Amino acid sequence: MKGIFVGVMISALVAAPGAAQDLSRHVVGPMECGECHTAEVDIWKKSAHYRSFKELHRRKEAKAISKKLGIKRIKSENLCMSCHYTAKKKGRSESAIAGISCESCHGPAEKWLESHANYGGPEATMESESPQHKQKRLASVDAAGMIRRDHLYKIAENCYRCHTTPNERLVNKGGHPSGSDFELVAWLSGEVLHNVFYSKGKENVEIPLERKRLLYVVGAALDLEYALRGVAESTTKAEYAIGMAKRAKRSSKQLLAISKRIKHPEIRKMLDVIRSVKLSLNNRSNLLIAADKVKALGEEFASNADGATLGALDDLLPKPNAYKGTVSK
Ligand code: HEC
Ligand code: HEC
Ligand code: HEC
Ligand code: HEC
Repeated sequence: MKGIFVGVMISALVAAPGAAQDLSRHVVGPMECGECHTAEVDIWKKSAHYRSFKELHRRKEAKAISKKLGIKRIKSENLCMSCHYTAKKKGRSESAIAGISCESCHGPAEKWLESHANYGGPEATMESESPQHKQKRLASVDAAGMIRRDHLYKIAENCYRCHTTPNERLVNKGGHPSGSDFELVAWLSGEVLHNVFYSKGKENVEIPLERKRLLYVVGAALDLEYALRGVAESTTKAEYAIGMAKRAKRSSKQLLAISKRIKHPEIRKMLDVIRSVKLSLNNRSNLLIAADKVKALGEEFASNADGATLGALDDLLPKPNAYKGTVSK
């Protein structure tokens, strides 16, 4: 029995980095999406996500960080690439092909692109597609790794993977900013907003209020989850650990405010998790267990909650003057 467990663990460890590389092997690039999503591509081209590709390696702050880390070429460095660029793997080499782009958030598309745009034969359109075909199509793109609006927790999780900057060495040694004051509704409603596809007249419309309420709660849960993981992995009491502990306190406060307005068992349980764990160094396994619990509760909330019943949260939602960047019309 013991042998089997050891075998499983080793193969899991070996598979993880391979799987990440495989992901970039299946990237098609944003221009493939532009064939049908011209408006989204135009909006994206006005964002910091797009500009990172052209600008990052030229910035003096970037040069200072890479110097401290002994990195020679920012654009081909795996570490910088994982958050600032879209990487594409060809053969053995991986290179940056764009800034943060469609597939950074919706998943590498090679395996889902064809079924994504197939509505049941050459004559079929989105409007004429049968409900049965649609159901089959969505199941197929989901299985191939597409991340869509229906996957609320997953599509939001993407942002936190990068915006909490979960890398101690990058922050402590490199002097990289230790994550930002990221808040999901505010940061999604400004320059990143691209709600054009389904709207009348193809205008870039605001996220519906019911959806914003869900995003607000899910965002707070994700912030807490990532902060707990950050503190768990911290090795010294320096910028990184302190930043992550502050993030945990901030998101706990946000969840407390939420719990005073809506009665959801998932939120109450998240607060119990926070109370039960100490935000300190050398507490890795407890903090990781706590983070996993928060994740499970956040996912549960995302699939059970109905935004229409959460009006009590509206006074907490960020106001338009807090939206990050300018909405593209
Ligand atoms: C051949 C045309 C075509 C191409 C190419 C295409 N799409 Fe789409 N896309 C559509 C259509 C049509 C819909 C609406 C279908 C629906 O509602 O299920 C859509 C919907 C979407 C949605 C919303 C789906 C949801 O359920 O949330 C996302 C996200 C998306 N596309 C991303 C992409 C990305 C990323 C690419 C490039 C990798 C891409 N699309 C390429 C036609 C296309
Ligand atoms: C884990 C994700 C992640 C990694 C890895 C990463 N960055 Fe960043 N970086 C970000 C995010 C996100 C921002 C935007 C600010 C924010 O939201 O925290 C940013 C912002 C920056 C900025 C702007 C900071 C400023 O002062 O305005 C520079 C410069 C930068 N990164 C350089 C680098 C370099 C060089 C590397 C590789 C050594 C790198 N980053 C690796 C996520 C990352
Ligand atoms: C920074 C992450 C990010 C990037 C980059 C991104 N998307 Fe999205 N996209 C999202 C999120 C999040 C949503 C769901 C928004 C919501 O919850 O209302 C979304 C929604 C969509 C939708 C449905 C919009 C609607 O009208 O409801 C389409 C279509 C889409 N994206 C296509 C694209 C294409 C094409 C690109 C590249 C040009 C792209 N996205 C780039 C995160 C991103
Ligand atoms: C692959 C990593 C990655 C993902 C995923 C990602 N971002 Fe970013 N984002 C960055 C980086 C890096 C920057 C800074 C780019 C630069 O300045 O070079 C940035 C910048 C931004 C900015 C501009 C910030 C400013 O200071 O003006 C906004 C807004 C933003 N992101 C929102 C989002 C949202 C919302 C999501 C999720 C839907 C998201 N991002 C997902 C890496 C990412």
